[in-house]
Amino acid sequence: MTNILKHKKPGSTQETSFEKIHNIIFKNSIDGSKAVAREIADLIKIKNDKKENCVLGLATGSSPITIYEELVKIHKKERLSFQNVITFNLDEYYPISIDNKESYHSFMYEHLFNHIDILDKNINIPKGDLKENKVKQFCRNYEDKISKLGGLDFQLLGIGRTGHIGFNEPGSSLNSETRLVKLDHLTRTDASKSFGGSENVPNTAITMGVSTILNAKRIVLIAWGENKSEMIYESIESKISQSVTASFLQNHKNVTFALDHGSASKLTKIDTPWIVGSKIQWNEETKTRALNWLCSKTGKSILRLSLSDYNENHLSDLVAAVQNTHDLNLEVFNRLQRAITGWPGGKPNADDTSRPERAIPEKKKVLIFSPHPDDDVISMGGTFQRLVDQGHDVHVAYQTSGNIAVSNDSVLKFLEVYNDICEGKEKKIKNAIKLLTDNNDIIEDRSVRDIAGKIREKEALAATRYVGLLDSKVHFLKLPFYETGRIKKNKPNKNDENIMKDIISKIKPHQIYAAGDLADPHGTHAVCIELLFKALKRLKKESFMKNCWVWLYRGAWHEWDIHEIEMAVPMSPKQLLKKRKSIFFHKSQNNSVMFQGDDKREFWERVEERNRDIAKKYRKLGMADYEAMETFRRYHF
Ligand code: F6R
Repeated sequence: MTNILKHKKPGSTQETSFEKIHNIIFKNSIDGSKAVAREIADLIKIKNDKKENCVLGLATGSSPITIYEELVKIHKKERLSFQNVITFNLDEYYPISIDNKESYHSFMYEHLFNHIDILDKNINIPKGDLKENKVKQFCRNYEDKISKLGGLDFQLLGIGRTGHIGFNEPGSSLNSETRLVKLDHLTRTDASKSFGGSENVPNTAITMGVSTILNAKRIVLIAWGENKSEMIYESIESKISQSVTASFLQNHKNVTFALDHGSASKLTKIDTPWIVGSKIQWNEETKTRALNWLCSKTGKSILRLSLSDYNENHLSDLVAAVQNTHDLNLEVFNRLQRAITGWPGGKPNADDTSRPERAIPEKKKVLIFSPHPDDDVISMGGTFQRLVDQGHDVHVAYQTSGNIAVSNDSVLKFLEVYNDICEGKEKKIKNAIKLLTDNNDIIEDRSVRDIAGKIREKEALAATRYVGLLDSKVHFLKLPFYETGRIKKNKPNKNDENIMKDIISKIKPHQIYAAGDLADPHGTHAVCIELLFKALKRLKKESFMKNCWVWLYRGAWHEWDIHEIEMAVPMSPKQLLKKRKSIFFHKSQNNSVMFQGDDKREFWERVEERNRDIAKKYRKLGMADYEAMETFRRYHF
């Protein structure tokens, strides 16, 4: 069997003795998906040439979507036929009707089966609509059918945040087979976004077992994005354990994990490469990373690190590279110190040689991009306030309407007030009120979504007025890719790109701030930043762009690591309180929002903790002791 993933030169790194599973780190999820799709396509073709069936085990979820898109492309462009392919899906929610748009049955037809020439009789998906007393027999038959075909030739897997493969949640045994299982709370929370609330997610599912999966001749597990990094580390480097089902894959002889930089970020060779003796290019960033780690390992601040601390903790290679560790301590200390500034728009009349921003022009035009209408204040509310207070000409551009994230209750409350004021004259409003009182799901109806969008607009205006901005400086871009009325968004296209390009050309900013959640391959933030990058590429040659610097903040979920930070803006307790108040204007985003994930804290609580944590990290390294901080990394285009 050819095996493109195995033959391809592994990403940027070699395997280490810490690792028990073969893995490849791709530049991004698209490259990874293409390589996996190519391996599957080659296998189908080889089997076809030999007049053999190709038995595939398939996964659903957000991770494999691009792989299926690629397979459809290969089918169309290269005339790859799927007539010899027999598929078995890993799992299905139970109970669920086949035509429920959240069923894995619907998913598979939408993303793959409707677009290829596979024979309907060759498609096998666990049935979510069986009577309870039929489930056991169905599972037995599923196993038998796979064995009679000689087993799975190839099994595609994703990984859940519980470490599950298929729906084999923690506690599943090595010899488990296809069966009915209970879903973990975290898995149901992750699914709640698509189901419009966790209460709508089924409690159980039918899944192939661990042994069914391990019997496959070849297994490829895909994982994209930082939120998979913990489980990837556990599966690849920890001992096999029932608490991380994917770790059972260490027992398989022909398995590869296809990763991106986000999901691989906790592997030892990436996180602390000096421990595995990798050859490291010592530059400002890697030195800072090593010292930050050494400080946490020894419990010392940077300027107290001694030569023996380095030598006893795998850093003798760094010692050899720099000669003098005292100078290195000072170098890194100064680098970190200089990143801290109360002048995010540059300090007027100051020597700016080692400051994060230029002193000139003294008053800058600033454009803050915010994917949703609250990311600006959540992620950089303190810096936003400073920029306004320090007299810069600040504009905010809200990239999407964020209308999906306004609950029915909020829209209904607003409409009922309006209806009472207008004495119920409007037919359209009556209709919307009826839809909202009758329905628990997300309502795709345009008029309802538009009102939800308006609510977010007004909340954003209230917040920006509080920060001190004129309404004319606030721009609602309503990028079309977002406006589907559904959780699932359209693919962004030239229209979206043009809107981004136009706003930059109109404002001609000296500084752009944007949400740099680069590791998240599927969310709205990732699409928004990609669109900015494309717009920057197209505008690069314009003369005004020569003076434009781009600063990336992290969205509501992650933080930059110390070594990545190039500007850190401190906040006093009073400034932090003001930031909290500006977040409060986004009332529709309180804790009833279904996109909150498993973290039950409100956004302001999470972000305050994050801002305080980063200040604490600087303090531990021996920097000045601040209440809280917001952090940025420069993007060079
Ligand atoms: C889906 C399945 C699950 C998913 C896993 C990751 O058929 O079996 O194990 O692969 O939950 O889901 P995503 O890709 O949505 O992160």
